Amino acid sequence: MSFLSNTLSRVKPSPTIAMTAKTAELKAAGRDVIGLSAGEPDFDTPQNIKDAAVAAIAAGKTKYTAPDGIPELKQAICAKLKRDNGLEYVPAQISVGTGGKQTLYNALMATLNEGDEVVIPAPYWVSYPDMVLLAGGTPVIAETSLQTNFKLTADQLEAALTPKTKWFIFNSPSNPTGTGYSREELKQLTDVLMRHPHVWIMTDDMYEHLAYDGFEFCTPAEIEPRLYERTLTCNGVSKAYSMTGWRIGYAAGPVELIAAMRKVQSQSTSNPCSISQWAAVEALNGTQDFLAPNNETFKRRRNLVVDMLGAIDGISCPTPEGAFYVYPSIAGLIGKKTPKGTVIDSDEAFANALLEEADVAVVFGAAFGLSPNFRVSYATSDEALKTACERIQDFCASLT
Ligand SMILES: Cc1ncc(COP(=O)(O)O)c(C=O)c1O
Repeated sequence: MSFLSNTLSRVKPSPTIAMTAKTAELKAAGRDVIGLSAGEPDFDTPQNIKDAAVAAIAAGKTKYTAPDGIPELKQAICAKLKRDNGLEYVPAQISVGTGGKQTLYNALMATLNEGDEVVIPAPYWVSYPDMVLLAGGTPVIAETSLQTNFKLTADQLEAALTPKTKWFIFNSPSNPTGTGYSREELKQLTDVLMRHPHVWIMTDDMYEHLAYDGFEFCTPAEIEPRLYERTLTCNGVSKAYSMTGWRIGYAAGPVELIAAMRKVQSQSTSNPCSISQWAAVEALNGTQDFLAPNNETFKRRRNLVVDMLGAIDGISCPTPEGAFYVYPSIAGLIGKKTPKGTVIDSDEAFANALLEEADVAVVFGAAFGLSPNFRVSYATSDEALKTACERIQDFCASLT
C-alpha cells in the first residue's frame, strides 16, 4: 500500500516550477540564462502599500484575524468591485485567501463531488486542472485555437457543457496567452450559460488591470447580471500591485458559497497574513496612479516581443490584449533539427533545446494544454527581453 494518497497520484507536478528549477540549476553552474518563465511583475511593491504594512506591524495588527478576512479589507473589496466593475456586494459575500490561488482552491474544495465536471478553456493557467483533480472533480478541457486568438467560441462552450458540469472557469486577460475577451465576445458565452442554469461561473479576473491599447476589461456578472447568483468573481492584488509575495487574493459570490469556503479555510490556513491584509486595504483604497505607467512599460515590452518573435520564420505571434504573456505558435518549426542534432518534435523539445543551446528559459505549451506553442513572460527588463529575443531569433535561424 502506498504511503501517499490516491488523490496525489492524480496530480502532476507543476511544469512551470520544473522549468524554473532547471533554469536555476544552469545559472548556478555559471550559465548566462535569461529567464522568461516567471509569472510575476519585475516592479517593486508601491511604497504606500509597504508603508501600510509597516504601520500595521507598529500598531500590533499581528494576530489571528477572521478566517476569510478583516472587515476593513472586505469593505475595500466591496468598494473596488462597485468602482471598477459596477458590481454590488456586501462583506458577507467576500472571501479573502492566501493568494488568488487559495480562494479558487477553496471554492473547488467546497463544491466538487466525484463525477462533477469543470469546463476549462485551453490554453489554461497550469493550476486549474490539477486543483480540480485535487478537489475530486473532473476537468473537461475545451480547446481553443490560434485562429480565434485563443478565445473560446459559443459553440465550443456549448459542446463542452454536460448535465454533470458544475463550474465553467473563465480567465480574461489570460495566463498564458494574454488574450482578453471583448464585451461582445463575453456576451456570447454568457448567453450560452443562461441556457444552462445548473452551471456556475468561476471568473478569474487576476489580470484585470493589465490591459493595453484601450482594451476594456469586463467580467461575467457585469455583462449578464442574471448570472450574478451563480458567479464567483475572483481577483487579487498579486499582479496589478506587484504583491505576489504578500499572498492576498479574494472572491465575491453568494453568501452560502462564501460561508462554505470559509469552512474550508478555517480548517487549513486559518486566515491570510494579517499584515498583508492591511497592505491590501491600502492597495485597493489608495492611489492607483502607478497602474498607468506600469501598463505603458508592459505595453512597450509586449510590442518589442511580438515584433521580434513575429519576425521569425516558422513562428506566429498574435498581439494579446493584456496580462504580461505572449503565446507564439511554433507549428512552422516542427520537424526541424537543432545544430546539436535535437529534433524539434514538440513544444517541450523546443523549450528544452532553447534552454540548453540558446540559454533562454520559456515554458512549453503542452503545460498549458495547447500545442505547439510556448509562453513568454515579458515581465522583465527591455534589455533582457531584447537579448532573449535575439537569441531566439538566432536559435530558430540555426534550425535545419
Ligand atoms: C490566472 C491566474 N490566476 C491566479 C493566479 C494566482 O495568483 P496568486 O499569486 O495571488 O495566488 C495566477 C498566478 O500566476 C494566475 O496567473
